[in-house]
Amino acid sequence: MIGTSIETAAAHLQAGEVVAIPTETVYGLAGNALSEKALATIFEVKNRPQFDPLIVHIAEVSHISRYATDFPEKAQQLAAQFMPGPLTLLLPKRDIIPDLCTSGLPRVALRVPNHPLTLELLKKLSFPLAAPSANPFGYISPTTAQHVADQLGDKIPYILDGGACRVGLESTIVGFEGEKAVIYRKGGLSVEAVEAVIGKVRVMQHSSSQPAAPGMLKSHYAPRIPLVLGNLDELVAQADPKTTGILSFKKKFLQIPENHQVVLSSTGDYAEAAQRLFAALRYLDSLPIRVIFAELLPEESLGRAINDRLRRAAAVR
Ligand code: TXA
Ligand code: MG
Repeated sequence: MIGTSIETAAAHLQAGEVVAIPTETVYGLAGNALSEKALATIFEVKNRPQFDPLIVHIAEVSHISRYATDFPEKAQQLAAQFMPGPLTLLLPKRDIIPDLCTSGLPRVALRVPNHPLTLELLKKLSFPLAAPSANPFGYISPTTAQHVADQLGDKIPYILDGGACRVGLESTIVGFEGEKAVIYRKGGLSVEAVEAVIGKVRVMQHSSSQPAAPGMLKSHYAPRIPLVLGNLDELVAQADPKTTGILSFKKKFLQIPENHQVVLSSTGDYAEAAQRLFAALRYLDSLPIRVIFAELLPEESLGRAINDRLRRAAAVR
């Protein structure tokens, strides 16, 4: 069921069940982060391998010390600026966080989502919420309640509807290796914004924080229809208009039917492009076409995270 009742969502969570929750980035599939049983249900519903750890959502920055043994200076600076917001901090975990949540890894991923319904829900609960994106493992992340319902509707008792996600890309994951900050996943908070607060950071190329499984997560965010990246003018020139979909940054192509195209932002606005990306991929993936042609954005600002998702969507499965 889709609804807007925080009480209903809370009741299911308190009963140990999982529900979908809105965040500013993407919808999450949430359960009690301190309950092995709820965690196991999340992995099962998502069909997610247990080596891929879950982000823990908390109501406020002051709760970080409940779940992490160390909160370094740079992490505190980032938290002060960007929490609530599309930032996840990887910090050494306390024992209260089950190993299942972190896939046995020594750090826990913590984030304060910036969505009024979910913040209110978290304040009501006596436990934090583990929540991966609410899509079947490997598919495109959901940015509306309907996206969740389309794929997981019959597997979960409740979807808390908070409207379309404002940011549209998953959170940026930042961890620390000694004094050095590392971005493990590019996301809804740009590298530039992070660096403006704590200085130069290292950015992991493949945007996976799970080095034990390199490449295994590469084909994330993948539509069912093959997606090919390249120069759209060249690709369109040889395309069969009837069986081709286009995902472009700014411009339309007259040769291709209007309803086979999505322009992410006609004004070239990165935030707008990010907000629309996943819904655009889902839409194109629903068309009776054989191929989706897409182009990379400039490698700056949120263009970097968008390109990361596009490259993974294009990766051969
Ligand atoms: O914006 C987001 O972060 C969304 C919303 C729902 O909050 N969540 C999300 O979760 O994107 P998910 O499960 O789709 O991606 C979480 C990723 C994992 O794949 C892993 O790469 C990293 O976060 N991660 C989580 N916990 C970790 C840990 N303990 N150690 C290392 N990496 C971790
Ligand atoms: Mg995900």
